[in-house]
Amino acid sequence: MQTIALKKYRDETWDFKTANTKQYTHCFHPYPAMMIPQVAGRILDEFGRDAKILFDPYCGTGTSLVEANLRGINAIGTDINPLARLIAKVKTTVIPLKSLDWYLKDFNDFVFSARLGEKRIEPIIPNFKNIDYWFKKETQYWLAIIKEYIEQKIKDKDIQDFFKVAFSETVREVSLTRNGEFKLYRMTKKQIEKFNPDVLSVMTEKLIRNRNGMADYISIKNNDAISKVYDFNTVYEIPESILPPESVDIIITSPPYGDSRTTVAYGQFSRLSNQWLGLEELNEVDKRCMGGIRKKEIKNFGIKLLDEVLSRIADIDKNRAYDVLSFYMDYEKSINNISKVVKKNGIVAYVVGNRKVKGIEIPNDEITVGFFERNGFSHIKTVIREIPNKRMPKRNSPSNIAGITDTTMSHEYIVILKKE
Ligand SMILES: C[S@@+](CC[C@H](N)C(=O)[O-])C[C@H]1O[C@@H](n2cnc3c(N)ncnc32)[C@H](O)[C@@H]1O
Repeated sequence: MQTIALKKYRDETWDFKTANTKQYTHCFHPYPAMMIPQVAGRILDEFGRDAKILFDPYCGTGTSLVEANLRGINAIGTDINPLARLIAKVKTTVIPLKSLDWYLKDFNDFVFSARLGEKRIEPIIPNFKNIDYWFKKETQYWLAIIKEYIEQKIKDKDIQDFFKVAFSETVREVSLTRNGEFKLYRMTKKQIEKFNPDVLSVMTEKLIRNRNGMADYISIKNNDAISKVYDFNTVYEIPESILPPESVDIIITSPPYGDSRTTVAYGQFSRLSNQWLGLEELNEVDKRCMGGIRKKEIKNFGIKLLDEVLSRIADIDKNRAYDVLSFYMDYEKSINNISKVVKKNGIVAYVVGNRKVKGIEIPNDEITVGFFERNGFSHIKTVIREIPNKRMPKRNSPSNIAGITDTTMSHEYIVILKKE
């Protein structure tokens, strides 16, 4: 661990405090714990100059895929959340502006006549549990109208998906959830009374912003690189037909930093969109996340730091120790599988956060190094950056790294390793 300490340092140049993180297609759709494009971009510039293929095993909305494609590198991503996959696909799929603009104009005309009520349509309102709890009747009506437009009027699949991404963001914004929170909390009664969103305007605003992001993306992407986004779970397998052994030059990813019950509830964040779009069964996403199914067994990982932390947590609360253990059992399996697809001399960059459980800090970054070292990787460095924009759970106590007196979750760790 002495060596890790020497290779681990705080570097303000990685903070990108004033950078615009919403350029190009990065402006599409919010998502919890997004990576900032500048971090993925800088890793690629420092370590991926000759890379032909990037893999992101927890690709979320595809930040690293976009950055790879901008540099002419083909990319493969996987995520168990269908909403994330949809967003990642749309952010990396070039749509000819001429066709897109044709549909945007058509949608505009459609909105115009829908507002006039020229032909009052009776759309099919999806029949999911709690729809009345999260959406006013009037809102449901307009959302259903837009959904029908997307599904029935748009013939081109890429354009349909482009509209679905704007629709998903609209769903979230016009729902009765409290603004700016990733978990689903309902507004107060008073707020609900006053809340009468103009659904068509919200949708139009998202479409225009995303259209402009797409135009910027096209204008600077001067190559044919593409991304493919899949639904496989690296904890269990990496299909050889997609990624044969030793086929990946570089991995840039930000994995979850704990089980989704107690850290970021990706499924919960996506639920309303998934329900409107008919994407996934309730609760499936959080169950499929790493550590989603609690295993009640004691295991020694053979990584001193992790085993110590687990036993200290178990002394205080056995069930919480099982949660943490279940997460790391999946995390380890995933790393074992991922390691196999990386080429010799290939690079792995994991952007991770450290969290506290029962007051005990879990050194996720060092555990990540430990798991990869067992798979024939050597640790290059761990850069500590501040996360000025990210909403993260709670203040944590000081970490034990020189120069850091601040909170742990307001920092993230960029762990870089090389396959020997
Ligand atoms: C921190 S987010 C990634 C965010 C992404 N870098 C971005 O910029 O949007 C972690 C992602 O891991 C996904 N995830 C959790 N468990 C997974 C698993 N076993 N396999 C694949 N993805 C998983 C979650 O759905 C979530 O999208």
